[in-house]
Amino acid sequence: MLKGKKILIGITGSIAAYKIPLLVRLFIREGAEVKVVMTRCATDFVTPLTLSTLSQKPVLIEPYDKTDGSWHSHVDWGRWADVFVLAPVSANTLAKMAAGIADNLLTTTYLAAKCPVFFAPAMDLDMYHHPTTQRNTDTLLSYGNHLIAPNEGELASGLVGAGRMEEPEVIFRTIADFLEKKNDLNGRNVLVSAGPTFEPIDPVRFIGNHSSGKMGYAIALQLAERGAAVTLVSGPVSLKLNHHGINLIKVNTAEQMAAACLEAFPACDAAIMSAAVADFTPVKAEKQKIKKTGGELVIQLKPTTDILAAMGKLKMGNQLLVGFALETENEFAHASAKLKNKNLDLIVLNSLNDEGAGFGTDTNKVTLISAAGEPEQTPLLSKREIAAVVVDKVAGMLNNNN
Ligand code: CTP
Repeated sequence: MLKGKKILIGITGSIAAYKIPLLVRLFIREGAEVKVVMTRCATDFVTPLTLSTLSQKPVLIEPYDKTDGSWHSHVDWGRWADVFVLAPVSANTLAKMAAGIADNLLTTTYLAAKCPVFFAPAMDLDMYHHPTTQRNTDTLLSYGNHLIAPNEGELASGLVGAGRMEEPEVIFRTIADFLEKKNDLNGRNVLVSAGPTFEPIDPVRFIGNHSSGKMGYAIALQLAERGAAVTLVSGPVSLKLNHHGINLIKVNTAEQMAAACLEAFPACDAAIMSAAVADFTPVKAEKQKIKKTGGELVIQLKPTTDILAAMGKLKMGNQLLVGFALETENEFAHASAKLKNKNLDLIVLNSLNDEGAGFGTDTNKVTLISAAGEPEQTPLLSKREIAAVVVDKVAGMLNNNN
């Protein structure tokens, strides 16, 4: 199943390191090539001999061999791999990765790696919940690295809680699934819109909304990782994204977003419009800051272009158009009406009535409604998992369309 795939495994100093020989075996059994890089501290938990025997390759620990001076190139290792799996990742290595510290062969290899990176933290629950660790995890995610989140359970310290490294079978399955899907969108151009729009009232004030952009950014990343060339048109958000397959176009207003999307759409195979676009904008943005007068202030608004509806009118037979609908009542009926009225192929319905779904959260729960076929409802999942569900659906529809 994984014949010819090159897996680089990085092991750091955590008791969960004792489970990694099993992970190596799972990859080898499926025909993958495995190389292992370890920190010095990791060798106290699991021996290099065990890992080199299972991987059938020398294990690297030091940047060079002190006896003959031969150099172990971190750059070559990072370039060799189809995927770099760091498991277990201690709090210390997590912090070094987030800060760009390269003080051993493993962290240097991480910094030089060009391939997708997965990291599976393992530490005591208080270390895992510490704001520094959470911030470091978020930093790594914002660079496009993939988190294999730790489990809740009994920890080596005797405490019970989050911090236990995910089981080798689950890590293996996550990587195998990723590699299987990796290139199924090669050669596809996909447009994604994300985030809010800000409609200026005067030089210091605007009308905006609570959209964080997390959903659209997660979709853009999934698409790019599966080989698509992505144009991401984003309203003002604080997220960062760094993937060579994503062309990020930053806009502020609905008008700018409409211009960027309508320009990009004709060359696209699909568009996934997750942005929360303002439906109204001030008729006039004042040139100077509006001063208090003691009385009421009336701001007159005019409708913006409905970008999705405009694209629905331009859509060619071989193009797919996907919209989002955020509803608070009669959710299914409203979303189905948008699907039809805007000439969409698929609509992703969020309900603000579902706890943990919608704006600002890291989780979401959606129903996929297509013109043909039964609606599909997801459980409450992370936005990354929801992005995978949406991208799976779009990839399937694109391949059927062909
Ligand atoms: N949308 C858009 N341009 C707009 C408004 C919305 O492209 N000016 C897109 C959104 O990106 C989303 C979909 O339309 O994919 C649905 O947005 P929503 O605000 O839920 O629907 P509206 O059609 O604006 O309807 P309403 O606000 O009345 O619910």
